[in-house]
Amino acid sequence: MKIALGVTGGVAAYKAAELVRRLQQEKLDVQVVMTRSAQEFITPLTFAALTGQKVITDMFTEPGSAPANVESAIEHIAVAQRIDLLLVAPATADILGKFAHGIAQDFLSTLYLATKAPVVVAPAMNVNMWEHEATQRNIATLRERGVHVVDPDEGYLACGMTGSGRLASTETIAKRVCDVLGLRHDLTGQTILITAGPTCEDIDPVRFLTNRSSGKMGYALAEAANRRGAHVVLVSGPTDLKIPDGVDWIPVRATEEMDRAVRERAASAQVVIMAAAVSDYRPAAQHDKKLKRNEGSFTLELEPTPDILAELGREKHGQILVGFAAETHAVAESARGKLARKGADMIVANDVTQEGAGFDTDTNIVTFYLRDGREISLPKLSKFEVANQILDRVLEIQKHSK
Ligand code: C5P
Repeated sequence: MKIALGVTGGVAAYKAAELVRRLQQEKLDVQVVMTRSAQEFITPLTFAALTGQKVITDMFTEPGSAPANVESAIEHIAVAQRIDLLLVAPATADILGKFAHGIAQDFLSTLYLATKAPVVVAPAMNVNMWEHEATQRNIATLRERGVHVVDPDEGYLACGMTGSGRLASTETIAKRVCDVLGLRHDLTGQTILITAGPTCEDIDPVRFLTNRSSGKMGYALAEAANRRGAHVVLVSGPTDLKIPDGVDWIPVRATEEMDRAVRERAASAQVVIMAAAVSDYRPAAQHDKKLKRNEGSFTLELEPTPDILAELGREKHGQILVGFAAETHAVAESARGKLARKGADMIVANDVTQEGAGFDTDTNIVTFYLRDGREISLPKLSKFEVANQILDRVLEIQKHSK
């Protein structure tokens, strides 16, 4: 995974060199971006030597020197799209102010606006500057916007004062980055079978029955479980999504195919998560030739498909089974019903009519229904965060069932 490390002009800038090393231990590819004032404290050469990559020092060249070329002028967009996370350590009061107010004056502040990757800031400054209402309001704005703040430590500061404002330790910052990226290694050794996307039930060679599932929830689960060290088998209906690196990807089309793919592999998995929106019915007959238009009405006879989750629930080989309930009404009743009927350990329910939940969104609003009767409602979160919460619960269930 790639991260950009923004280094800004504070005495603590020298600590960023050690941070680069620590992040590399997590197999992260680090691209350093320095503000002009950071270069007064530490040279780009140090970071170039540590990372083996050119350090980005600014968007435009100094007045009077060679003009910026097209490449460097659009580089911030390329970097913005390439990175999985933007970390700024140390973050001065100045850069926090720029981020909070959307001021894009140099490469780093422009990168902040241009990237959709999560952002982590580790502020470091004089105690009075840190405690100043302006800084605290900027921090509050950034937190509200979802920026992760690694609070500074208390202690002796370079300015001779004692108080809050010292850059958090390298270990604390590195841990936070790993947490945000979902690199927790707590699923190492486990095989997790995940289904995703819709199924397609053919009527004739050109027509089929399907649903509005995008596969985003299942793919987020695959990505999250993979980053946490699991061996992931992703059985996927047709989607347009990028296949997450490092997962065993098994494409399927109809429910019957998904059923076969899942049942062949379920026994060797410790966890099965059925995030796919599996068709409950399929055409009773499939026509080899395209059906022709006729006058009058047309009736399509449907027959039930195998309920994959319920079958696994009956045959259970000691795995943890997680099902989904995407509903438009009576969410709780149907989730409780599925928990019992399908023999699942947990049902993840959502009301797909809610804004920011359900199909083809990047966020979801879910409630977990657990066997012990607990019902846990989460706020609106990205599907990646929901995925990590599901995996946290799976680990908890495993711990209690030992
Ligand atoms: O019964 P319903 O389709 O609403 O249940 C949803 C849950 O059951 C999901 O986890 C879905 O993946 C799973 N399911 C299944 N096989 C089916 C239908 C649904 O495994 N035929």
